[in-house]
Amino acid sequence: MTVTRTTHQSLCQLGPAQELAVDAPEPIKEQLRSGEISEKEAGRRILKAERRAKTMAAAAIAAEPPEPPIGTFRTIVIDPPWRYDNVTTRGAAEDHYQTMGLDELARLEVPAGENAHLYLWTTNSFLREGFGLLDAWGFAYKTCLTWVKPQMGLGNWFRSATEHVLFGIRGDLPTLRNDVKKWFEAPNESHSKKPELFYGLVEGSSPGPYLDMFARSPRDGWSAWGNEV
Ligand SMILES: C[S@@+](CC[C@H](N)C(=O)[O-])C[C@H]1O[C@@H](n2cnc3c(N)ncnc32)[C@H](O)[C@@H]1O
Repeated sequence: MTVTRTTHQSLCQLGPAQELAVDAPEPIKEQLRSGEISEKEAGRRILKAERRAKTMAAAAIAAEPPEPPIGTFRTIVIDPPWRYDNVTTRGAAEDHYQTMGLDELARLEVPAGENAHLYLWTTNSFLREGFGLLDAWGFAYKTCLTWVKPQMGLGNWFRSATEHVLFGIRGDLPTLRNDVKKWFEAPNESHSKKPELFYGLVEGSSPGPYLDMFARSPRDGWSAWGNEV
């Protein structure tokens, strides 16, 4: 039997005598083959090893923050890795990526020209802090866009189904059109991933050059900056 990917489930399907073609740590495979540990125990150890590897990778990233973005941009999208005080929510974010405190975010170099647009993503919990960041980065708050999600999320008082984008400007730079609604509807994707539709809205409303800060993947026609790009 050949398995190409290591998962707890796939490993648990394998008997000790079977040929393992998985990328599990060799010592664990050896212990399973020799019958020293059960399949269940092997699965448990693999999960633990995978978690340790993820933590170490995150620590390596933290030790080497990316170089600041090069250039000056007329339109910047910023999607910060907010650090939550609430332990449960913080854990949920930190399971996915390294987070940043408010002071650190306020000190961020935002490479905008004299006339520029800024789109700052904020969650319902961080609306107040979002306004503070616009001030710290030298942008005047103009309006707020809302992402409406069809699915209902968690929430203490009401259940989450929205995220907001604070729109601020530096200098004097009008939007390219005046027929764009302040809300848009798009389904949730993977953790923290912002909808494609939003980037279309930005390109239709604001001039380039464009910079996506705290991006996780490159985007055609944009500069992308972040420790996971
Ligand atoms: C909210 S997520 C961004 C999600 C992204 N906009 C998307 O749509 O997929 C925040 C990102 O900031 C990154 N990050 C955290 N600390 C950072 C740092 N000091 N420098 C650069 N990026 C950092 C995280 O690793 C994560 O990829």
